[in-house]
Amino acid sequence: MQSMGEILKTLMPGLTSASEVGRYICEGCGNETVIIDQPVIGGPDKGKQLQYKRGCVCWDNEQAREAKREQRAYQVQQMVGKYSTVNPDLEAATFESFMASTPNLHRALTAAREYADSFDLSQPMNLLFAGMYGLGKSHLSYSICKELRFKGYIAVFVSVPKLLTVIKSTYQRNSDFTEAELLDVLSKVDLLALDDIGAERAKREDDGESWATEKLFEIIDGRSGRHTIYTTNLTSDELPRKVGQRNFSRMMMNTKPVKFEGVDYRINNKRF
Ligand SMILES: Nc1ncnc2c1ncn2[C@@H]1O[C@H](COP(=O)(O)OP(=O)(O)OP(=O)(O)O)[C@@H](O)[C@H]1O
Ligand SMILES: [Mg+2]
Ligand SMILES: [Zn+2]
Repeated sequence: MQSMGEILKTLMPGLTSASEVGRYICEGCGNETVIIDQPVIGGPDKGKQLQYKRGCVCWDNEQAREAKREQRAYQVQQMVGKYSTVNPDLEAATFESFMASTPNLHRALTAAREYADSFDLSQPMNLLFAGMYGLGKSHLSYSICKELRFKGYIAVFVSVPKLLTVIKSTYQRNSDFTEAELLDVLSKVDLLALDDIGAERAKREDDGESWATEKLFEIIDGRSGRHTIYTTNLTSDELPRKVGQRNFSRMMMNTKPVKFEGVDYRINNKRF
C-alpha cells in the first residue's frame, strides 16, 4: 500500500509533503520512532529531503544540542561581526563607487566583479590584492563581501592586525568566547577577507616562529577548501619573509594575484 504522502506526491508532483519512510524501536530510549522525510519548501536548500524522527527522545535531545551549537556559533559570528566593522570611509564602498581611472585599476575592478559573480562554494578560489597604500584593495575586497552577503553568503571582512588583537583578548578570563570557537567560526564562513595581512607586528621568538605566524597558520590552514581574500602592502618577496614560507605557500594555492598600481586615492589631488 502506498503511504498518504506518496499518493499525494503522485497526484501533485510539486507538492511538498512529509512522508513516513521507516519505523523502529530506539535502543536508547525504548520509544517507537517514526522516520519522516520532508522536502524543504524554500530557501537555498529548496527541494532537498530533510529527515526527522518522531517519538525518539534521544533524537530530540540531539536536536536541542545541535540548536545550541548553532546558536553559539551565531554568537561568535556576531562577535566577529563586531570586530569586522570597517572604517567609515570603507562602509560605503561598492563596485559602482570605485573609479577605475587607469587600465590597472580597471583590471582590478574586473577581477573583483568576476570573483563575486562566479562565487561557487564547491569551487574555492582565493584572491590576493597587493600594492601600495590607498589604491582600493580594501575597497574592492569589502565590496565583494557586501555583494556576497547580499546573495545570502556569510562573508567576513577583518583586518588581520585587529583580528590578532581579538584572538589575544580571548585569553582573558572574562572573554565571551574562546579562541577555539573564534577560529572555528573563521574557518567556516563562506568568504573570509583577511585585510592587511603582513601589517601585523610579528616579534620573532627564539624558536623562529612568532605567535602571530603561528595564529596565521591556524587561520589560513583552516580555510583550505574555502574562499579567502588577502590584501597586503607587501611584495611577493617581502610577504613570505613576513608571514613565513609555510603560510605563504598555503596563501598562494588556488589564488589569483592582482597587483594594484597608481596614486594613493587618500592623498590624490590634495595640495597644501
Ligand atoms: N579607485 C577608487 N575609487 C573610489 N574610491 C577609492 C578608490 N581607491 C580608493 N578609494 C577610497 O580611498 C580610501 C582608501 O582606499 P582603500 O582603503 O581601499 O586602500 P588600500 O589599497 O586598502 O590601502 P592600504 O594599503 O593603505 O590599506 C577608501 O575610502 C576607498 O573607498
Ligand atoms: Mg587597505
Ligand atoms: Zn531514542
